[in-house]
Amino acid sequence: MAGAGISTPSGIPDFRSPGSGLYSNLKQYNLPYPEAIFELTFFFQNPKPFFTLAKELYPGNFKPNMTHYFLRLLHDKGLLLRLYTQNIDGLERVSGIPASKLVEAHGTFASATCTVCLRACPGEDFWAAVLADRVPCCRVCTGIVKPDVVFFGEPLPERFLLHVVDFPVADLLLVLGTSLEVEPFASLSEYVRHSVPRVLINQAVVGTFAWQPRGRDVVQLGDVVHGVEKLVTLLGWTEEMQDLMRREREKLGAGKS
Ligand code: OAD
Ligand code: ZN
Repeated sequence: MAGAGISTPSGIPDFRSPGSGLYSNLKQYNLPYPEAIFELTFFFQNPKPFFTLAKELYPGNFKPNMTHYFLRLLHDKGLLLRLYTQNIDGLERVSGIPASKLVEAHGTFASATCTVCLRACPGEDFWAAVLADRVPCCRVCTGIVKPDVVFFGEPLPERFLLHVVDFPVADLLLVLGTSLEVEPFASLSEYVRHSVPRVLINQAVVGTFAWQPRGRDVVQLGDVVHGVEKLVTLLGWTEEMQDLMRREREKLGAGKS
């Protein structure tokens, strides 16, 4: 299970960290309250703030960090049952984890849909408008096009239901870089069997790790990359990890973060 904290080392702010989190830096947008940026009612009144955020998150502006590549390595080794992420930055895909292994529980910027006629909007049209500071509109009916990011009150993607089959058979749960504050995602952390170790790597103790800890829980506090590095060392995977990162970064070329 992953959240915004796995992408802060790539330069993307999380939501709730005081000072640096997105929710404390939205003043420029004149929102009634920070979460309004992900609410449909506000979006239809004033879609600008959301699209300003979308522009910042433009795919290609950011690169995966060791945390994403660690999860990719788990996949390469046949150890990753599924990655449930709340992130909409798409860095899990960029790191090379196949779509079949991913549940993007809060959706994605990779595709977009017209809010009126519900037709899919081609990515290039959508991004061309966003990058030019225009609100993207449907070619067919001129309705506002919204990326397939889940707003508050919207249903989660169907793939989220995979948790019903995945969590009971998992034999290890990693929880990385999330405040575990948003439901229904947060409760997934309780769905693994009680005999299964749960490992939290995060700046702070969160969710059920704080208020309903289990005997086999492991909590590694501090920076997520540091925690992952430590785990990689314990596993004896340091060299493989470095090789994978070198190969993948060469593919992506030099650039931001
Ligand atoms: P939050 O911002 O709520 O939580 C991020 C967590 O990561 C916090 O506990 C931070 O302390 C921790 N963190 C940040 N940087 C870290 C680092 N470098 N190393 C270790 N820990 C770090 O983000 P999420 O839990 O992902 O919803 O938020 C959940 C949802 O709330 C988001 O998906 C979003 C938001 O409203 C939607 O977009 C619908
Ligand atoms: Zn339309």
